[in-house]
Amino acid sequence: MTEWKKSDWRTKPRVQMPDYLDQADLNSVEAQLSKYPPLVFAGEARSLKSKLAAASRGDAFLLQGGDCAESFEQFSADGIRDTFKVMLQMAMVLTYGAKVPVVKVGRMAGQFAKPRSAPTEVKDGVELPSYRGDIINELDFTSAARIPDPKKMLQAYTQAAATLNLLRAFSSGGYADMEQVHSWTLNFTEQANAKRYREMAESISNALDFMSAAGINSGNSHALKTVDFYTSHESLLLEYEEALTRLDSTSGKWLAGSGHMIWIGDRTRQPDGAHVEFCRGVQNPIGLKCGPTTTADDLKVLMNKLNPNNEAGRLTLIARFGAGSVGDHLPRLIKAVQEEGANVLWTCDAMHGNTIKSSTGYKTRPFDSVLREVREFFGIHNAEGTVPGGVHFEMTGQDVTECTGGVHAVSDEDLSDRYHTACDPRLNASQSLELAFLVSEELVARRSDKTPLAASL
Ligand code: PEP
Ligand code: CO
Repeated sequence: MTEWKKSDWRTKPRVQMPDYLDQADLNSVEAQLSKYPPLVFAGEARSLKSKLAAASRGDAFLLQGGDCAESFEQFSADGIRDTFKVMLQMAMVLTYGAKVPVVKVGRMAGQFAKPRSAPTEVKDGVELPSYRGDIINELDFTSAARIPDPKKMLQAYTQAAATLNLLRAFSSGGYADMEQVHSWTLNFTEQANAKRYREMAESISNALDFMSAAGINSGNSHALKTVDFYTSHESLLLEYEEALTRLDSTSGKWLAGSGHMIWIGDRTRQPDGAHVEFCRGVQNPIGLKCGPTTTADDLKVLMNKLNPNNEAGRLTLIARFGAGSVGDHLPRLIKAVQEEGANVLWTCDAMHGNTIKSSTGYKTRPFDSVLREVREFFGIHNAEGTVPGGVHFEMTGQDVTECTGGVHAVSDEDLSDRYHTACDPRLNASQSLELAFLVSEELVARRSDKTPLAASL
């Protein structure tokens, strides 16, 4: 077999990528980016891979979340801090339920390019190319804004580098101290209609008090004071990905230096297409979205291409079928995995199959559908004896009104108040944390179904 090259994807059919008008401009951006430092290092990608391997065995649980699309305009330190903060809160609550470490992976520091359901968009009789994310073109509905501009890759790189820098500072600089994270969690449960979460928050407090009495606290325990936080994004804009791909001298393998984990979207997973070709050659953990149209045969081919050595932690299958449909699809794909004897981590993206149009015209997702899809995912894995290893959400730490429902009962009429997403609707901070409480309850219930003794200890 000939050796993989980072440019091989260029010989394959590509979809969902822009046609840049000025080739010289594109070449110069690619040349520039390929001289910039990678954003992540191979050792980090390898340590994430070993944590994902643990999650695939049920010895850890993956929490992956963040914006649908990161935005240049809304880029701010507060935005990064708030999403990081709510993910830590969720991780703490999930750790309580899962009784295993939670692996934290942001859809952050690179989640800029978007696949679209149609190449053009029509408004008031005017047809323009679709918006494809800030790394490609602009959201404004003018023909100038929709022209793909390669220079936007440089701005995306700069924003990703600054985001990752702040995340690294928060992760080790004291902000992630477990006692502090818990105090934020308690604020949430003061809400009158959040009583059912108080008991769980109090149990977490008791556990922390117990550890502290036993002499383990954030003053003397590195583990309670720092977190490992990883980044991920859809590997869609392959010119950007290729330019940041580097040979890792330690292993002699290629690394996508754009983020720790990259995934292949539901629209770009053609087994002979450009995106699969690129991802198969880099050593990072790879995610693969599995939707209602994923066939068992395609999944088998993809698993063999993307993980030929059947390495644990390499491949995460991100199921996104929609509430009410998980039972129609997940069992046949679990069967395909079992027939191949493939090592995979199963996680549940409870967002992308649950997008609807509200009565007020906004693209939204009902909180209850998101929760229902997660429950169906857990229920099926439980019935099949396989491991539901994680959850994947589009969420933000900001107080937006994009998804309906939750303790604040966001209604169709409320959506217009703070609808800020550049693409799909996100859970807000309160909805995200509430979901973590409910998923945690689910994990506690399933653990006690299976191991009554262990759960009571
Ligand atoms: C996404 O994760 O933002 C996305 C576009 O998902 P999918 O490929 O599953 O539709
Ligand atoms: Co999305």
